[in-house]
Amino acid sequence: MGVLRCALLGTGGIANEFLAPALALTAGVRLWSVLSRSKSNAEAFASRHGALSPTPAYDDLDALLSDPSLDAVIVATPDRLHAAQCIAAARAGKHVFCEKPLATSADEARAIVAACEEARVTLGVAYHLRHHAGHRALVGEVRKGAIGRVRHARVQWTFAAPDATNWRASADVGRWWALASVGTHGLDLLRWVMVEAAGEVVEMKSLSSSPKFGVARDESTILTMKFADGSTAELFASVLFRAPRRVELFGDGGYAEATGTLGPWGKGEIRINDTLLEYTPTNPYVGELEDFAAAVRERRSPAVDGREALRNVELLERALPL
Ligand SMILES: NC(=O)c1ccc[n+]([C@@H]2O[C@H](COP(=O)([O-])OP(=O)(O)OC[C@H]3O[C@@H](n4cnc5c(N)ncnc54)[C@H](OP(=O)(O)O)[C@@H]3O)[C@@H](O)[C@H]2O)c1
Repeated sequence: MGVLRCALLGTGGIANEFLAPALALTAGVRLWSVLSRSKSNAEAFASRHGALSPTPAYDDLDALLSDPSLDAVIVATPDRLHAAQCIAAARAGKHVFCEKPLATSADEARAIVAACEEARVTLGVAYHLRHHAGHRALVGEVRKGAIGRVRHARVQWTFAAPDATNWRASADVGRWWALASVGTHGLDLLRWVMVEAAGEVVEMKSLSSSPKFGVARDESTILTMKFADGSTAELFASVLFRAPRRVELFGDGGYAEATGTLGPWGKGEIRINDTLLEYTPTNPYVGELEDFAAAVRERRSPAVDGREALRNVELLERALPL
């Protein structure tokens, strides 16, 4: 296969500011076509980002998927739309790269995984922080024993939403708010760092609250969990506070902390046992797209495959059932 021709489904924040620009910077992938609810919006987006198809703009998913030149779709729509769009793409024989969280229920996530496996297409999920160069260096050092065996980990990621107009705060196309916007990323980081040595999450407790906007969705969620070997972790996710974003790892033989690395930028400061970890910042969205394209080419799993993303959704669901 030559260049992977990708369609973007959705033209919102992540598609416009990060994914389309990253597609232009990533070897082996190109923006081919675009789906929007509005044809004129799709046309404007396709032209702004230089989509290569002779017919790049669609307002109908089946029409977009019927293009035989299209190789893959990147699903960048609200969370509740992911399942139907991913399954339709898989059934049309297109590889799927889906934004996080993979779905709004474990049943939907399982159906996506099954559809992709049945169609033998690659399914990748967009946890871009696994491609943060500093995180990769940190996890490499931790795996080599820089802080001994990790016995506890903590992630704190909050931001201050101006109001509750975001779709995540409503039931139509969202399900969780703090948990789906930033919490699912924190969970992914905790799983990435912990599961390999500590085993699966065997126990979890959660507390959610919506004290400010009066919506039925979580404005703040606190999770505590225990892994199979007895190690523990904490996650605090909230849409209420502009505050430092942190990852902390507590090991038998030391301590590591990442400050300001959680976000889209690929930057921030990382210390292991108080010593600054040197790394060269890179664009994590380019990293995730490079990995996905290589996974398709090499017929291997991407950094976060459907089954790993399903585990994440299962935990979100357990944390905050309907
Ligand atoms: N990895 C990351 O760093 C990151 C960051 C932000 C978001 N995300 C994920 O990316 C996905 C999209 O989030 P976003 O922040 O880009 O959202 P957004 O800015 O609201 O954009 C979503 C887009 O989906 C399309 N859409 C289709 N049906 C819709 C509906 N009923 N309501 C609203 N939009 C609809 C819209 O495009 P049209 O108007 O063209 O149809 C809209 O612009 C989510 O799954 C989110 O979790 C990931």
